Amino acid sequence: MNLFDPHETITSDNLSSTSKFQQTGVGLRYKFPENTIHPNKELGWMRRLLPVAKSHKKPLYIGLFTGVIALVLNIAVPAMARNAIDATIDADREALTIWVIVLISVGLGRFAFGALYRYSLFKLAWGVETDLRALLYSHLTKLSFSYFDRTQSGEVISRANSDIRSIQVLLAFGPLIGMTVISFILAFGYMMTLHVPLTLVSLVTLPGVYFFGQKLRKVVFPLTWVSQARLAELATIVDENVNGIRVVKSFAAENQQVGLLRRASEHIKWVNVEAIKARARYNPIVESLPRIGMALVLLYGGHLAIEGDVSIGTLFAFNAYVIMLQAPFRMFGFLLLQTQRASASAQRIFEVLDENPTIVDSPDASPLDNVRGSIAFKNIHFSYPNSRGNSQSDTFGSSQEVLSGLNLVIEPGETVAIVGRTGSGKSTLARLLTRFYDPTSGEIEIDGRDVKKITLDSLRHHIGVVFDEPFLFSTSVAQNIAYSQPNAPQEDIAFAARSAEASQFIENLSEGYSTVVGERGYTLSGGQRQRIALARTLLEKTPILILDDATSAIDVKVESSIHESLVRHLSGRTTILIAQRISTITLADRVVLLEHGRVVAEGTHSELMAKDARYVAILAEVENKSQSEPGGPE
Ligand SMILES: Nc1ncnc2c1ncn2[C@@H]1O[C@H](COP(=O)(O)OP(=O)(O)OP(=O)(O)O)[C@@H](O)[C@H]1O
Ligand SMILES: [Mg+2]
Repeated sequence: MNLFDPHETITSDNLSSTSKFQQTGVGLRYKFPENTIHPNKELGWMRRLLPVAKSHKKPLYIGLFTGVIALVLNIAVPAMARNAIDATIDADREALTIWVIVLISVGLGRFAFGALYRYSLFKLAWGVETDLRALLYSHLTKLSFSYFDRTQSGEVISRANSDIRSIQVLLAFGPLIGMTVISFILAFGYMMTLHVPLTLVSLVTLPGVYFFGQKLRKVVFPLTWVSQARLAELATIVDENVNGIRVVKSFAAENQQVGLLRRASEHIKWVNVEAIKARARYNPIVESLPRIGMALVLLYGGHLAIEGDVSIGTLFAFNAYVIMLQAPFRMFGFLLLQTQRASASAQRIFEVLDENPTIVDSPDASPLDNVRGSIAFKNIHFSYPNSRGNSQSDTFGSSQEVLSGLNLVIEPGETVAIVGRTGSGKSTLARLLTRFYDPTSGEIEIDGRDVKKITLDSLRHHIGVVFDEPFLFSTSVAQNIAYSQPNAPQEDIAFAARSAEASQFIENLSEGYSTVVGERGYTLSGGQRQRIALARTLLEKTPILILDDATSAIDVKVESSIHESLVRHLSGRTTILIAQRISTITLADRVVLLEHGRVVAEGTHSELMAKDARYVAILAEVENKSQSEPGGPE
């Protein structure tokens, strides 16, 4: 097979100026949550969450309805037993039989409704968990780069996992416990009809339960916050250990990393032990109070029964209720704790959902149409939002200006090389054109249209970027290349691979195009990753192309054959080549020299070599650097 067909040429009419990112089947199959959280930040977290729960109306209503029935039946059991006992004492066999039959039916009903009620509530809880996860993730994808610059991956991971989980647990158990509170009220009402003073005696320990519960809450609540933050810290360390394992091992720094991890987990232990200490102190008190209540009931109720004021059945019923009422008290502690945990988690999740994406479509934005591909940077000033590290403080102070008054006009179809020292803002230029960030001042135009007036989707589908650090997904080579068009035919994928000089090594891989690359493509060499990234971008056939040091890890010989095919690819496309090597720079029609955040010289390579001493000096520096830093093992 002829790997390199000279007739395969990209022309400006088969550039996709209106192509759409194709949804894969997955996107279509799973529908997005109907509702998001309530936008009003002033509301309590449960009220904010309510719209999400409401989109699961069926399990919610069935759960509440069957729950109430199960409860009433539950409360009815001691009442039926009371009647049965009193019938026994009165030697009324017929009544005894009837009450026992009623008791059995009530028990069966309680079982059935209880099962339905649990099932519905857990279904609701998992539904909300799934929705929250989808909402959180889709919101994360909308957030701007400045958010990710200051957020640690562990924080995001822990929000998506443990925070959502703790809300789910509360949703599943909260109503369950809430119901026991209702059962308390029902039982209380029924007891009052039987004997008022005895009822009051049996509840005398309640204030104590409330008091110690509050004490526990005061100690545990702050610890809950700390615990969640520590877990996030741990997740970041684990994430960095796994992703940075090559660096860790190459510096033989395993012990240091293990030390970091141990420190983080000791912190987690400390927080939880403190919480347990508080619970160990207060929980036994809270739990034993109802037993004291029971003793009081037996003491006072026993005397009442001896005097004939209440029946033995009533005494039995009271005894059963006091035991039954222990459940809400005992669960109350758990509910308090879980509510605190869920509230902390909800606030952390809402923090993400409330974070407004800074880069969004303006209301009057419209898609690009019939792109010619002229680009203009007009007096651009830019500095990165200065907020590395801590996400709370000093969010948007300005750091040093990266671009200061940059002007650059690129004609349709022109190939411009951007040259400058490291850190001079070359990659930043590319990030501004694709609106990863917006300039502090100045305008960027495509075909004379302000990029802020173009929909983000359309803008980014018209600009293909190959980044300096290629990121591959852990899927097959073919899926990686076809990332923008999952349904692209095999020929297109192969053509893109050939254009990027990647087809030969891909065909030599164990399973060719179906070979699954390791996480981030680490089973490939640096140069191979770059070529797959290049093929991925070439496949999209965008009218504007940015290659940011896209061939830096590829050896000069392979690079020159990539250039041969690139020349054909570049014709008809507006291209920005960010480059260090002279071999790459000479592909350009024009070279632009970037220094101190602005363009300081432009012309063809040979012109600049002849007339500009700064250019010669910088080129000598970067050439030396790129020669002393050969790319990955090829
Ligand atoms: N996400 C970021 N947040 C804050 N500062 C950043 C960020 N990215 C880059 N910078 C800073 O902006 C400046 C310009 O960076 P840029 O990546 O544009 O340089 P470059 O010209 O592409 O360099 P190189 O040739 O090394 O790729 C640098 O000083 C860098 O520290
Ligand atoms: Mg760069």
